[in-house]
This record gives sequence, C-alpha cells and structure tokens, in this order.
Amino acid sequence: MKYTAVIFDLDGVICSTDNYHYLAWKVLAEEEGIYFDREINHRLRGVSRMESLEIILERASRAYAGEEKAAMAERKNLIYNVLLEQMTPADLPGEVANVLHTLKQSDVKIAIGSSSKNARTILQRIGLDHAFDEISDGTNISHSKPNPEVFLKAAKMLGEQPEDCLVVEDAKAGIAAAVAGGFDSAGIGEAAEEEGVTYPLGAFRDLLGIVLG
Ligand code: BG6
Ligand code: MG
Repeated sequence: MKYTAVIFDLDGVICSTDNYHYLAWKVLAEEEGIYFDREINHRLRGVSRMESLEIILERASRAYAGEEKAAMAERKNLIYNVLLEQMTPADLPGEVANVLHTLKQSDVKIAIGSSSKNARTILQRIGLDHAFDEISDGTNISHSKPNPEVFLKAAKMLGEQPEDCLVVEDAKAGIAAAVAGGFDSAGIGEAAEEEGVTYPLGAFRDLLGIVLG
C-alpha cells in the first residue's frame, strides 16, 4: 500500500456541487450587473466564500461596503442551499461510491478536506454522512486553500503524517495547498494539468491503482 490515507476535496471531486456554486454566483452577479463566466469561476474553486466574492467583485463598476459584501455572500449561500435541496444519493457517482468502498475494505483511511461550510449538509444529502473517518471543512479552518491548513488538520485527525496521505483535488488552489503541506496529490479535470500535481487522473477509479498498487 503506497498511502495509508486519502483526503478528498468535496466540491467537484466527490460530487458536482462545483456547478451549483457557479450557478448561485451567476444569479448574484447578474442581479448586480457584474460580468461573470465559467472561466472566472475556475478561480473560485477551493477558495472561501468571501474570497470568491472578492474575485467576482474585481469586475464590479463600483466599490462595495463591508456590510454589503457580507449580505451578498449570505444571499449566494441561500441560493446555493436551495440548489442543494434537490440533491439525493443519486447524485453520488457510482464510480466514486465504488472507490470509497474499496479503499475502506482495504483498510485505507478516508477523510474530507474541503473549504466549504456546507460540507456536512452535502454529505448527508448524497448519503455519505457516515462514510468518512474524519471531516475537515470550512468550519474548522482560519485559512482556505491554497493554505494547507484544511489538509494538515485532516491528516492530524486521522493520526497520519502528510507523506502517508494522498490528496485528491479538482482545483489549482487545492493542488497548491497539497504541495505546501507536503502531500502528494491526484488531480482531476483541470487540476490534472497543474504544476506540482503528483498524479494526473484520467478516471476516478485510477486512484485505486495509485493508492493500493
Ligand atoms: C470550496 C469550493 O469547496 O468551498 C469553493 O470549491 C467555495 O468554490 C468554498 O467557495 C466555500 O464553500 P461554502 O459552501 O462554504 O460557501
Ligand atoms: Mg473542489
């Protein structure tokens, strides 16, 4: 066994909530008349809600006060949570379910390492509320990715050293966080191209060969 634990990002790795983040920000940006597209959205992956808002506001035609920004972030989260309500266990891809099951059967520890404060809600909706050994998320960190805090806390919760854990990510900020924390990483989608990624993943199931191989 090459790694004794695997730390998974949530949005865009375990399920497609990255798209719901995009749709919710898009509604907010349109309400405010701010240009926003999927390319800008890539920069929001892995970073906190307030940092995401700051990136969107780079295109705004006026300055926003602190209270306005707080209200906008809250409104985005409300829209996002309405989208989350339609999620069911059917939104957990079968391939992801199989990989998690096989890792557990092989005594590999698994954790979530996500910047999201909605992580537990999402895991519950897709039927994974008891699947992970530990959950490190936006509720227990002071710095979001690319700071390695969320992964270092996950490793500590698992009782593992960073070099024994593999991080699975879909975001540039997530791969940078893994590198900064001393973790090897597997990159999905665009993250497969990122500098510093240890394993570019063609398919999610390729993780099994990497971890158990
Ligand atoms: C990350 C997403 O997982 O969580 C980011 O990739 C998001 O796009 C961040 O901004 C914070 O999420 P939430 O659910 O706390 O607003
Ligand atoms: Mg992600």
